Amino acid sequence: MALLFIPLAVLAQILGLTTVALISVWMIKYLDGFAWDGSSQQFNLHPFLMVIGLIYFYGNAIIIYRITSGLNVPRLAVKLAHFILQLCAFICSIIALVAVFQFHNANQIPNMYSMHSWAGIATVVMFGLQLLFGFLIFLFPKLPERYRTLYMSSHIFFGVFILGLAGATVLMGIGEKLAFAGSTLNTEAILGNVAGLTTIAFTCIIAYIIYKPDYYADRSLTSCKMFCTGVQSNQDPLVTKKGCNSDTLNA
Ligand code: HEM
Repeated sequence: MALLFIPLAVLAQILGLTTVALISVWMIKYLDGFAWDGSSQQFNLHPFLMVIGLIYFYGNAIIIYRITSGLNVPRLAVKLAHFILQLCAFICSIIALVAVFQFHNANQIPNMYSMHSWAGIATVVMFGLQLLFGFLIFLFPKLPERYRTLYMSSHIFFGVFILGLAGATVLMGIGEKLAFAGSTLNTEAILGNVAGLTTIAFTCIIAYIIYKPDYYADRSLTSCKMFCTGVQSNQDPLVTKKGCNSDTLNA
């Protein structure tokens, strides 16, 4: 098992759950909880669902191949879990968008005026496209091996990029919400700021787990394929060092 993988994976869980907990406490205890009636309580569902979906579920979907490798989980089950976690994230993000748009409309607040909202729409659209392409290419109808391998490095790049964009959008959203509440260092501000920091740390650790070369070694066939394909053309000795050969590539 690669050095520090388990502590990092555990730390990622702690940070992700802490982010969700902080946003929940902020929305429930300090901003009157949730409702679906056009009120500010409906708005509260927006940050709550966005953080659960596009940060926590999505981050876990990204590292699920690493977490399950070596545990003898059937490959199709991991693929389905990777997809289902992202589907849940997408559903959360759509409900969160409907919540904030309806809240704005019900209160005659203009839509799409902020950088946060523009970056947010870009995040959700890119996330939806990534999910769609991933489904078509890897699950159904599932393209031949050659095309899947070709697409893999872009899939991984955009996967991490979109998580980073979601993290940046969350920071802007927290900043805006706190600014609406007034410029003062109260408990709400502390909750929001700490949630921002844990979001940064969570996305950073997910990205680190995905890009750390050691964690590719024998950890998942998918990474093995991606890694081997990436270096094969350069005749990199790592191809053999990492145990990737024609058997693992064609499995
Ligand atoms: C990746 C996660 C998020 C995405 C994709 C996202 C997306 C969006 C979008 C598209 C809007 C515009 C709605 C409209 O114009 O009617 C919006 C509004 C808003 N969001 Fe988020 N959001 C996210 C997370 C958050 C978080 C964590 C907060 C923190 C409290 C937040 C606070 C706000 C606020 C205050 C508004 C209303 C002001 C504005 O339109 O900029 N958002 N969000």
